[in-house]
Amino acid sequence: MNDTFLKACKGEKTEYTPIWIMRQAGRYLPEYHTVRSKGSFLDLCKTPERAAEVTIQPVDIIGVDAAILFSDILVPLEKMGCPLEFQEKKGPVFPSPIRDQAAVDKLIIPDPEDDLGYVMDTIRILRKELVDKVPLIGFSGAPFTLATYLIEGGSSKNYLQTKRMMYEAPALYKALLDKITDCTIVYLQGQAAAGAQALQIFDSWAGVLAPCDYREFAFPYVTRIISALKEVTDVPLIYFANNGASLLDITRDCGSDVLGIDWRIGLDKVIEKVDGKMAVQGNMDPLSLFLPADKLKDRVREVLVQAKGAKGHVFNLGHGIVPETDPAKAKLAVEYVHEISRELRA
Ligand code: CP3
Repeated sequence: MNDTFLKACKGEKTEYTPIWIMRQAGRYLPEYHTVRSKGSFLDLCKTPERAAEVTIQPVDIIGVDAAILFSDILVPLEKMGCPLEFQEKKGPVFPSPIRDQAAVDKLIIPDPEDDLGYVMDTIRILRKELVDKVPLIGFSGAPFTLATYLIEGGSSKNYLQTKRMMYEAPALYKALLDKITDCTIVYLQGQAAAGAQALQIFDSWAGVLAPCDYREFAFPYVTRIISALKEVTDVPLIYFANNGASLLDITRDCGSDVLGIDWRIGLDKVIEKVDGKMAVQGNMDPLSLFLPADKLKDRVREVLVQAKGAKGHVFNLGHGIVPETDPAKAKLAVEYVHEISRELRA
C-alpha cells in the first residue's frame, strides 16, 4: 500500500508530498454521474457497494494518495432523529429545525453499527478493495458546522438562527452541541474500529464566527472529540477549519495530528504559528484548477515551497473541488505535486 499520506500526517519523511482533494468523489467526475444517476444521493450513501465504488473512482482516475469515504457529514444527524432531504439545486434540508429544549431532548445518540451500519460496511468493503492502493480517510462534521444545519434547517447565509440561539439561549445551544459532540465521538470511534485509517473533522463554517465566539461556542467541542478519540485510537486526526486564518491562535491547540488550511493564508505563516506541533494540510484555491497548465504548475510549486518548513505536509485544495472542474486538470495537479515535491527534496 502507498502509505505516503499516513507518513506525512505523522510528520515522517516521505519521498514526495502526498495529495488528496476535498470532495474528490463527486460531481466533477462523469464516472460519478453514471453511478449517481441510478438513484438519489442519500440512496448512494446508504448502498455500501456503490458508495465504495465512487470512493475509489478518484484514486484510479486522478491518482490521489488517499481515498475519502463517500458519505456526507449530515448522515449521522438523520439517525439522531432529524429527517434529512437533499433537494436538487437547493442542497440539504432539515424540514424540522431544532430550536427548543424539547427538540434537543428528543435527539438520540445513534449506535454506529446498529444505526449507521451502512457507513461501517462501506468502510469494511473499502479496506478490502484498497489493500494494494491507498489509505482510507473517514470523517465527520465538527459540532458547530453540524449544528448550523440543524438550527437553520439547511444551508445558511448569515447563520441568524444559530447565532441568535448562541446569544439568546446559550444553555440550549450548549445542550445541543453536547449531544452532537457525543454522537460524533461514537461515530468516529466506530469508523476507526471498522477500519478508517485517518479521520478528518470538517468545520466548514467555523470562519463565520468571531474568534471570541469560536473559542466559546465551537472549539471546546472539537477538543473534546479529539481527546476522546486519542484515548481509543492512534489513527491520525485532521481538523479542517475553513476560513480559519483568524482562528489559528486557537486552533493550533486543538490536539489533532494535522491542521487543514484554506487558501486565504500562506502555509509559511501557518507553519510559523503551529510551531512544529502538527502537520499541515492544504491549501491551493480550488479555482486554481481553472488556470492554464503552466500557471497551475507555478501555483503548485508555490504551495510546496511555502510548506517546506512543515513538520509534515499533505497537499490538498483549500476547500472542496468545484463540480465544474475538468478532471484532467485535477489529474495534472496531482502529477505536478508528485513531480515538484520530489524535485524540491533532491
Ligand atoms: O469526496 C469526498 O470528499 C467524500 C464525500 C463528501 C461529500 N460531502 C459528498 C457529497 C464529503 C466529505 C462531504 C462533506 C460535506 N457535506 C461538508 C463538509 C465539506 C465542505 O464542503 O465544506 C458539507 C458542508 C456537507 C453538506 C452538503 N452535502 C452540502 C451543503 C451539499 C449540497 C451542496 C454540494 O456541495 O453538493 C451536500 C451534497 C453532497 N455531498 C454531494 C456530494 C457528492 C452532492 C450530491 C449529489 O447531488 O450528487
